[in-house]
Amino acid sequence: MKRKHLFIAVLAGIFILGAGCIFFQSWNHEEKEEKKTLRVGVTLYRGDDSFINDISGKIVEAAKTYEKDTGIKVVLDEVDGRGDQNQQNSQVDRFISLGVDVLCVNIVDRSVASYIIDKAMDADIPVVFFNREPVEEDMRRWEKLYYVGEDAREAAVLQGGILVDAYKKDTSTLDLDGDGKVSYVLLEGETGHQDSLIRTEWSIKTLKDGGVPLEKITGGIGNWERSQGSAWMEQWLDEYPNEIELVISNNDDMALGAADALERKKINRPVKIVGIDGTPQGMEGLRAGKLFGTVQCDSEEYARVVFQIAAAAGLGQNVQETVELEDGKYYNCSQAARTADEEEKHN
Ligand code: GAL
Repeated sequence: MKRKHLFIAVLAGIFILGAGCIFFQSWNHEEKEEKKTLRVGVTLYRGDDSFINDISGKIVEAAKTYEKDTGIKVVLDEVDGRGDQNQQNSQVDRFISLGVDVLCVNIVDRSVASYIIDKAMDADIPVVFFNREPVEEDMRRWEKLYYVGEDAREAAVLQGGILVDAYKKDTSTLDLDGDGKVSYVLLEGETGHQDSLIRTEWSIKTLKDGGVPLEKITGGIGNWERSQGSAWMEQWLDEYPNEIELVISNNDDMALGAADALERKKINRPVKIVGIDGTPQGMEGLRAGKLFGTVQCDSEEYARVVFQIAAAAGLGQNVQETVELEDGKYYNCSQAARTADEEEKHN
């Protein structure tokens, strides 16, 4: 008799457990099913930066494509930090209080990401950082932190390669006065930006290793800005008239600024200028013969990947199944060398 009771009790237990599981599963399923909207908060370090402006526009496009492809409604709010970290921190606070599913952060000051990371961790909201890379120690703090950028060394090696090829083909393209030296000026991005330091170092190294006899005239920090690149170049053209043969710039905007100065000063010497980014303005400058070369980042891929990671992380999906990441958190976009000659061939 006792055995029979025990048997019935076990059977009843199994039944209750099974029913419970089925109920939980369907409830859980409904929870997931309900997620028909994805709320994304994007904050930019400066909306007036040409490269960032291009990427941010393409993130909005990527969101529209995602909406069409998946039927999931995307509510994307994009704000400008205007170069002010405190303002950006408040923007993040606001996004969190509005209940976004994920944050995309182009951080103003890459050395102080901990404020944003703390807030995101508390609220369990994943963060996709892009273009301005937080230090590794910060990135390691949580598995829901991601970074999308470009390999600075690769960009610089490609930039240097454009010049090495040109010099090998015809030394007089760079050594304009034929004195056996290529005299150059250097326009650097922001101090402390991961891209500036590495791009400068590897561009020069590639030229030297490639056998180009370099002589540095001078250099300056132009903070990625066209106006600052232009102001430097104007000053250098006054200080070193007839000496500058080459301008190596960490990005296209400063390179275009140097071209503006040459134009303003009506210098007809074929000073060569190279940049990095391949922004719409940079490519236009290349076609117009203002820039000799640039390294173009695939900005569509860049924006698409930022959005794909954001969507997967924001919906609690497995991000690695959507995008292949290095170390579970890093993604580097493709880049390619572009020269005026090549552009001509394409058109
Ligand atoms: C660099 C880019 C620059 C500027 C900067 C902003 O990667 O080459 O043009 O946009 O990022 O962080």
